[in-house]
Amino acid sequence: MIPQSFIQDLLNRLDIVDVVERHVPLKKAGANYMACCPFHGEKSPSFSVSPSKQFYHCFGCGAHGTAIGFVMEYQGLGFVEAVEDLARNAGLTVPHETDENSHRPTHAPELPDVLLSATRYYREQLKLAPQAIDYLKQRGLSGEIAARFGIGFAPAGWQNLGDIFPDYNSPLLTQAGLVIEGENGKRYDRFRDRIMFPILNQRGTVIGFGGRVLGQGEPKYLNSPETPLFEKGRELYGLSQARKAIHDAGRVLVVEGYMDVVALAQHGVDYAVATLGTATTPVHVQKLLRQSDNVVFCFDGDAAGRKAAWRALENSLAHLVDGKNLSFLFLPQGEDPDSYIRQSGKAGFESLLSEALPLSQFLLRELTGQVEMQTQEGRARLLQNARPLIQQITAPALGLMVRKRLAELAGVTQVELEDLYQIRPLQKQSPGLPRLKRKPPSLVRQMVQFLLAEPRLAQGSELDFTEGEDGETTLAALIEFLHKNPQIQGMAPMIEHFHGTEHEPALRDAAAEVMQWEDRFDLAEIEREFAGALAQLEKQRRDREIDALLSLSRSQGLNPLQKEQLQGLLTRK
Ligand code: UTP
Ligand code: MN
Repeated sequence: MIPQSFIQDLLNRLDIVDVVERHVPLKKAGANYMACCPFHGEKSPSFSVSPSKQFYHCFGCGAHGTAIGFVMEYQGLGFVEAVEDLARNAGLTVPHETDENSHRPTHAPELPDVLLSATRYYREQLKLAPQAIDYLKQRGLSGEIAARFGIGFAPAGWQNLGDIFPDYNSPLLTQAGLVIEGENGKRYDRFRDRIMFPILNQRGTVIGFGGRVLGQGEPKYLNSPETPLFEKGRELYGLSQARKAIHDAGRVLVVEGYMDVVALAQHGVDYAVATLGTATTPVHVQKLLRQSDNVVFCFDGDAAGRKAAWRALENSLAHLVDGKNLSFLFLPQGEDPDSYIRQSGKAGFESLLSEALPLSQFLLRELTGQVEMQTQEGRARLLQNARPLIQQITAPALGLMVRKRLAELAGVTQVELEDLYQIRPLQKQSPGLPRLKRKPPSLVRQMVQFLLAEPRLAQGSELDFTEGEDGETTLAALIEFLHKNPQIQGMAPMIEHFHGTEHEPALRDAAAEVMQWEDRFDLAEIEREFAGALAQLEKQRRDREIDALLSLSRSQGLNPLQKEQLQGLLTRK
């Protein structure tokens, strides 16, 4: 594990402007630097880099992050790799704490080489294995496609990798997920007698494998474990190969299986990627939206497929952007993309694609399907069920459309619906810049934003939260961190300190919001607002305590101490 202190140190020495500029030419514009966004196609610049906040943000696609985040996204690196890359450029050596429980063990720089050697070995072995070649042929794959995806074969036998790795006991082999060490200390190859699908990251580096049995057997697919290089929830199988085709086709198709990606490519649909046996995560969605303006999720037509589609929808709502389309394609029962395209060919498959259900329709169809639409009670349930979902949609126009349609379906007016959901109408926006967020921030979220913008505010503010609304724990954690680290400047050190924790998403959202203020607040105003928010939060907490004591007094009476407490609270009020 890389010590936190090192990450803070590294961020102190870096300037995000230099880091971005290494890849993207920047132009000064006021306090910030602008460029055309490297993460989505655009003609006029909406990608902004702030030297004072050490943060970047794209007003077009919503991409944002610190210098470390930029390197991760731009170069397709994992967190540890990105830190190493930046450290190398800054002339620093990354110290590594040894911590066996760490969820992010360090990886030796040789790890990618080890995986590459294994990939080569498996490919050589495929040539020597007629039964494996037959299997692939029988599944309709040509040698060319097998080569494009680097498909190989792990022969039967327990220690074949010993042939190419002279030190079979090297910890690198276990770290790479290629070798398993049994309880008795005996080591053996993880992948035996399986077709091997190398998994590449966005840069084209092999980071893991999926191995399929020939024919029947359990498990059907065996995957690399999560390693420092390989996090399933971040990676998409086939993305590296599909990138150009996605660009050319103007859409990316998301399917469930390795074989689906490969078979689709075999038939000329070469813009497909697959999640790796996991649900579609928010990271996936963000990555996909950066590849293309059109994302089509393709699922099996059965109950499991519907469920998986719903998960993908839930994880997409917060990342929707006006002008981008997410849609859902459900295949006929019993079919998967592989079987379907083999029967119907490219034209047949693509005509199905054009019928994919837009996200908004899928959302409303499912929601209305869950209730009895003929009764007032049913429609009230609809409004109640829809609320947490609708509130996540921050894309202004799409959010508006969905609310309008939902209101119609429920038989209320749009204004009534927005009142019910406590959604304020669109706020004034700074000229020229589209606002990505519409939802008025809660008090707590606002305070997190103020602290990101002006960390010194934490000094002298005391908060003790034991319970409370969402986000209070994040606020409390942030304040505690700032008390311990009063020298912090810029947002990046705060974001990266909480990297990988439960607080990360809230902080990243807040940071993106702050990046959009720019000249909207001055320091004095931020100080005033923060003091006001703090006082209000205090008051809310006091009110909660008063309420609790009052209801206690009604139900069972108060003891003298509680009476005194209540008295005190009421007089302070
Ligand atoms: P499926 O069971 O739908 O298999 O798993 P498939 O893609 O149709 O595979 P073929 O056509 O029988 O070869 C879909 C995906 O779920 C993950 C894999 O990523 C697979 O591609 N999976 C499935 C596993 O990880 N392990 C398994 O045992 C099964
Ligand atoms: Mn299949």
